[in-house]
Amino acid sequence: MTAPLVLGIESSCDETGVGIVRGTELLANQVASSVDLHARFGGVVPEVASRAHLEAMLPTLARACEDAEVDLSEVDGIAVTAGPGLVSALVVGVATAKALAVALNKPLYGVNHLIGHVAVDVLDHGPLPSPAIALLVSGGHSSLLRVDDIATSVRELGSTIDDAAGEAYDKVARLLGLPYPGGPVIDKAAALGNPRAIAFPRGLTATKDLAKHRFDFSFSGLKTAVARWVETRRRDGEDVPINDVAASFQEAVCDVLTAKAIAACEAEGIGDLLIGGGVAANSRLRSLLEERATAAGIRLRRPRPGLCTDNGAMIAVVGGAAMVAGVRPSSLDIGVDSGLPVSTIVV
Ligand code: KG4
Ligand code: ZN
Repeated sequence: MTAPLVLGIESSCDETGVGIVRGTELLANQVASSVDLHARFGGVVPEVASRAHLEAMLPTLARACEDAEVDLSEVDGIAVTAGPGLVSALVVGVATAKALAVALNKPLYGVNHLIGHVAVDVLDHGPLPSPAIALLVSGGHSSLLRVDDIATSVRELGSTIDDAAGEAYDKVARLLGLPYPGGPVIDKAAALGNPRAIAFPRGLTATKDLAKHRFDFSFSGLKTAVARWVETRRRDGEDVPINDVAASFQEAVCDVLTAKAIAACEAEGIGDLLIGGGVAANSRLRSLLEERATAAGIRLRRPRPGLCTDNGAMIAVVGGAAMVAGVRPSSLDIGVDSGLPVSTIVV
């Protein structure tokens, strides 16, 4: 039996994404970003994002169908991000998906955005090993997950107790006077700096914290430490070595993420680790994880950077997996849930 042909729609933040996949095969992945509209505000403005989704949705859908050489009538199911994310942005995707499901008489799957980030690697490296540990690092979330089945069974082992990793990148970029989103610019600046120039703190890694927060993260203390360091330099009339600050900050983030990811694999006795979310595009995270996974005898899966950030294909993958697993389609009266927990895969 051939895998179902699934259309995936993503609109949880500032990217309007429409993807078309068949099982592990990527047929189209169109993304329209409103990031430039938000850059001058230093972060995403929900109402601006929502309007941009409205304008971009149908043209993006048309481009995806054209790329995949697929007529909408051929699609077997419609998947859409139902949460977590910005409510006014999510509703645009969900309304579009419901309209398509009704018009085409196809099943609707309201799926979890975070699971999309974890699942997308199947498009690059085939079906996921089971079980696997997933390090999910995005703008709004940072978690370690145990993934037994991408359509039916995901359990959170730990998560951030304050800022997400991507949020820390964005905030540190802002205080260094760098543009939004901060991740890619810090990644570039860090490549020119010395990661050992400044010893920034590694949150929740002290022995006393590990007892309660072994697989949890904390990045707000790091952000404050960077802010203090920069303020002191400025107050003393000294230049701020942006590349060194970026490299040292990045090293602190990546050191903690990779150490805890490997520790989670070891604690669960699982030899497969995968990464997902916007921060998974980070060059240092990818290389350090490769180094440490190899040393620990753990197999590592990293989706190409272009699939790490928000897109519709990752949502289609989850919808397709749900269809194959026989998960009941979502009702046509589903709402959106800005705080959808990661353990809810299909609403
Ligand atoms: O997953 P994503 O596209 O959206 C959310 O679901 O939040 O992640 C966006 C986040 C932003 O905080 C952005 O700064 C970060 O991912 N990001 C990066 C890189 N590319 C994007 N962080 C570090 N290094 C990168 N290369
Ligand atoms: Zn995301």
